[in-house]
Amino acid sequence: MASVIIAGVGSYAPARVVTNQELAQRVETSDEWIFSRSGIRERHIAADDEACSDLAIKAAQAALLDANMTAADVDLLIVATATPDYPLPATACVVQHKLGVPPHAACFDIAAACSGFVYALEIAYGQLLTGRYKCALIIGAEKLSTIVDWSDRTTCVLFGDGGGAAVLKKTDQVGVGIIGSDLGADGELTDYLYTPCGGSRTPTSPATIEAKGHFLKMKGKEIFKNAVRVMEKVAREMVEQNGLTLDQINLVIPHQANVRIVEALAGNLGLPMDRFHLNIDRFGNTSSASIPLALDEARRLGRIKPGDYTLLVAFGAGFTYGSTLIRW
Ligand code: ACO
Repeated sequence: MASVIIAGVGSYAPARVVTNQELAQRVETSDEWIFSRSGIRERHIAADDEACSDLAIKAAQAALLDANMTAADVDLLIVATATPDYPLPATACVVQHKLGVPPHAACFDIAAACSGFVYALEIAYGQLLTGRYKCALIIGAEKLSTIVDWSDRTTCVLFGDGGGAAVLKKTDQVGVGIIGSDLGADGELTDYLYTPCGGSRTPTSPATIEAKGHFLKMKGKEIFKNAVRVMEKVAREMVEQNGLTLDQINLVIPHQANVRIVEALAGNLGLPMDRFHLNIDRFGNTSSASIPLALDEARRLGRIKPGDYTLLVAFGAGFTYGSTLIRW
């Protein structure tokens, strides 16, 4: 019996920090409204010349260093993103070239929005177990600031930019690494969070630009309710399927979209809030980067120790969702 371990984790946040106070100078809002409704105080925003791949590469370099490995070791590279450098080709290929990942590596992007990192983990986990690949580098990176309408106060206060990465490899050790992984999606809810234009359904035109059709559109209240429902479901199922109880989970790392979503989830699961690692106050919602950013921070803060169980739970546009159970 073999398993797949997370050999290293890393993250990167752009230098520029935008506070709620700064946003309140651009749109009619306040630090009090944003913090009380979402738990967000500030977010990192990438520089004009920083693209998704630049954030991804810095996070990947940190993860490779943490794993004591180099880009030459990687033979599977997955970038989860909703904000790729280009519509074509994959950002993973840009990252491959700049990072020095060898040509025999498989490199591709996945689009699963905020669940992207958990989706990438599941794909890499399965591929490594088959023995077809030896070392996977998975990255969640977003420059959401490019698809946010900065004049729309109902969305612009929620999102931020960043990247997080993990290096995965197969091991003969038993009972460690990825213990369980489960994904799902409900495509009936695609219009809860989407970018209406710029794809093949409504290609870019002067009219779509005029209509601001290239920015995120969101049904906040509906997402909120579904997020709590699906995250509770996947968390319970993952723990039960693996013969554990919720109180055996040392730390939950949820997708960081809104602290009130996590509070509702914690209440429904009967877990105290200190069992969740949160950094949304300083990063906002960074979509596919959110879980690896929080995972990296939790590890560096000593919140994850050998033998611990960590549960990742995600939801995102699509409506996608998923969970991963890890034993360190
Ligand atoms: N500042 C001040 N007032 C605001 C702001 C703002 N930034 N935004 C909205 N308001 C106003 C609204 O216009 C509304 O006014 P009205 O009552 O006069 O109409 C009022 O505040 C209340 O708005 P609600 O929408 O009821 O606020 P709510 O408490 O539902 O919070 C929020 C809104 C924060 C968006 C919440 O619904 C939420 O977090 N939903 C989930 C969003 C989410 O998770 N998105 C990411 C999905 S994951 C992914 O894939 C990226």
